[in-house]
Amino acid sequence: MTREPNAELTRELRTLDAAHLLHPFTDHAALAAKGVRVIARAEGIWIWDTEGHRILDGMSGLWCVNAGYGRRELAQAAYQQMLELPFYNTFFQTTTEPPVRLAQRLTALAPPVRGQPFTHVFFTSSGSEANDTNVRLVRRYWDLLGQPQRKVIISRCNAYHGSTVAAASLGGMSGMHEQGDLPIPGIVHIQQPYYWGLREPGETPEAFGLRAARWLEDKILEIGPQRVAAFIAEPVQGAGGVIIPPPTYWPEVQRIVQRYGILLISDEVICAFGRLGHWFAYEKFGIQPDLVTFAKAVTSGYVPLGGVLVHERVARVLVEGGEFTHGYTYSGHPVACAVALANLDLMQREALPERVRHDTGPYLAERWATLADHPLVGVTESCGFVAGLVLTRDKATLAPFPDAWEVGLLCRQHCFDSGVVMRAVGQRMIIAPPLTMTRADINTMIERIVRALDATWADLQQRHGL
Ligand SMILES: Cc1ncc(COP(=O)(O)O)c(C=O)c1O
Repeated sequence: MTREPNAELTRELRTLDAAHLLHPFTDHAALAAKGVRVIARAEGIWIWDTEGHRILDGMSGLWCVNAGYGRRELAQAAYQQMLELPFYNTFFQTTTEPPVRLAQRLTALAPPVRGQPFTHVFFTSSGSEANDTNVRLVRRYWDLLGQPQRKVIISRCNAYHGSTVAAASLGGMSGMHEQGDLPIPGIVHIQQPYYWGLREPGETPEAFGLRAARWLEDKILEIGPQRVAAFIAEPVQGAGGVIIPPPTYWPEVQRIVQRYGILLISDEVICAFGRLGHWFAYEKFGIQPDLVTFAKAVTSGYVPLGGVLVHERVARVLVEGGEFTHGYTYSGHPVACAVALANLDLMQREALPERVRHDTGPYLAERWATLADHPLVGVTESCGFVAGLVLTRDKATLAPFPDAWEVGLLCRQHCFDSGVVMRAVGQRMIIAPPLTMTRADINTMIERIVRALDATWADLQQRHGL
């Protein structure tokens, strides 16, 4: 595949794609009418499509290519492991070297909680499977402790925890629940800590953060604390639109889960591996989870891998509790784990989390904040290497545009046309760029985003006479 535009290949793949490929979260008729974009190759922070466009990937693929594209050592690690041992399972009282080494490595990377380490890892192939695993794990834990009535898991509206039946139930996406008769029993939701959407007039972010955390306490008391197994949450909600909670939120949530003795699951499928400037996001927010979901950037997305980091509190009970009847063919896949080890080596060598924490993260925050000057932009927020902005027709009230105008999708299209990938979540535009970006790359990204916002503004003026 070259960088040259290839109209014939584009046409062929578009036709075959429309005929045979079912895409995630996609209106297929609309996509077929428009024609899918075919991504052909990538290098660093750039992707190329078959029409020859070079596009800055502001979303790291899908929040996962933290180390950037074209890292030969990750390809080498996969190649070597495939030659040596492409697969063997961990079911038959057997193991292989890469998952053992990776489990040890991850438990060593994860800061201790309550003075005790994370001791074990359960591997999966995705974040969804990892959250399904969490449902099984927390129920097993309470069963083994003689409290089988503790079944209920509390989650949050607009959370995204994956797309399997259990993970979509944990998630709080109403569109997903509607199509699948979800959530399954035993999973309930509280509101998300979205200050800009749910604040009372005159309420400060700090006061809102405390109020939002106390929705958890209200729910626990409503259900009965003795029936609640766990609370699951993303430290920063990602797919829900990069919802960054006020600083008072997490400490209060921590107080509440501790008070009622319920397990805390920190879903760090997006937030871990340097995304927020730390190896794990619970460190940043000072929370004390019992289970940490990971996936995506553990391999920088080069091969599928996910899992759950299990704290000593839970692992001790599980390990002594007899057989846990759960597992996947690819739990601890040697090739995926070998790539993850090489990826962690690379991230450590290049100090990517530290770079985001001390240098490029603060620089992105500074540059991102300048977008608030644009007439289309209400609020800008960022945390490490995730950032979001609100498109609005009125900066003072943050009044949204009519849904029918599809302003988010319009802006996303102008972003592509301006050579930068941004994701639209309703009328929020979000980014999560590769952690390898330099300050100059950030400048290039911001310039392209400004161009896209200008084009969106001009388009809206033309279509709707703004
Ligand atoms: C926080 C979170 N949890 C879980 C998942 C599901 O991961 P996967 O798509 O690998 O199943 C995602 C995916 O975006 C996610 O953002």
